[in-house]
Amino acid sequence: MRILVTGGSGQVGFELQRSLTLYGEVVAPNRMELDLSDEQTVINYLQQLKPDMIVNAAAWTAVDLAESSSDDAYQLNHRLPKILAEYSARHGSWLIHYSSDYVYPGDGEQPWSESDTTGPLSVYGASKLAGDESVIESGADALIFRTSWVYGARGNNFMKTMLRLGSERTALNVVADQWGAPTPARLIADVTALAIDRIVQKRPIDAGIYHLAPQGETNWCEFAKLIFSEATKREQPLTILPNAVHAITTADYPVPAVRPQNSRLSLSKLEAALNVKMPAWQAQLILTLEEYLSMKGTV
Ligand SMILES: NC(=O)c1ccc[n+]([C@@H]2O[C@H](COP(=O)([O-])OP(=O)(O)OC[C@H]3O[C@@H](n4cnc5c(N)ncnc54)[C@H](OP(=O)(O)O)[C@@H]3O)[C@@H](O)[C@H]2O)c1
Repeated sequence: MRILVTGGSGQVGFELQRSLTLYGEVVAPNRMELDLSDEQTVINYLQQLKPDMIVNAAAWTAVDLAESSSDDAYQLNHRLPKILAEYSARHGSWLIHYSSDYVYPGDGEQPWSESDTTGPLSVYGASKLAGDESVIESGADALIFRTSWVYGARGNNFMKTMLRLGSERTALNVVADQWGAPTPARLIADVTALAIDRIVQKRPIDAGIYHLAPQGETNWCEFAKLIFSEATKREQPLTILPNAVHAITTADYPVPAVRPQNSRLSLSKLEAALNVKMPAWQAQLILTLEEYLSMKGTV
């Protein structure tokens, strides 16, 4: 089986290359080899490669920049998955695509279900929703994994930003009124591999949308505090003082794109479909942090 992984240099794409290698030949072109913003180039590439499965981890993920670069965000987040889904529908092959908590309106305190009404608050969220809708409309066999707060040992993410700021500053203000679950890229890749295993074994889970995140919930401020306390236990030389991580509100930290305050995602559909129990976000942080620190050569 030939699997095309797009966005292989990204957080999720990198982990996918590691997790999917047992299932066949994984082809992961970089931006120089395949510019995903050029529709005809993508169509030609698909015609030549003829992948048996596509895993689309590429996206425009610059959430704030999307507000002023709407066309670019839609090109990657809407039109690209549409092309990939149309190829998959024509060839009777599976597409695995990733989406976001940002498609939901972010109000209330209950975890979102996959069947809940969407209502994105930002251009990024709207572009991701348009991508999901085009995948579904294509009629392709497709899994859409909606995830939240992605981070990992590689790439740019909140954990690494906090570790950097925590070694430069003595105090930090962090937003404490947005709730969700930080999701390691590696967990996303592992769940994807499990889903692909089911497809290969000819007992696939139903096509459609699934939430993919660890169990539990937190806010950015509590997440930051756990990053600092676990890093300190591992003898990281942080300058941040204990009790100097201060909770602020979303209104105190204005950014161009509106963030959802409630990014909680119900996991019951995924857990039932794959017969798994998702792990707690805290344990996932420790594993990801240790991987990152060992990569830095400090543990
Ligand atoms: N990050 C989050 O917090 C988050 C939260 C919820 C959902 N998601 C979703 O999860 C999925 C994976 O996200 P991620 O965090 O792994 O993304 P990421 O680290 O930002 O990676 C994005 C990938 O897309 C590639 N890409 C973008 N434009 C391209 C172009 N024109 N041509 C070729 N490649 C291009 C990037 O290549 P370069 O390295 O060359 O730029 C990179 O490999 C996405 O669907 C995202 O929307 C992410």
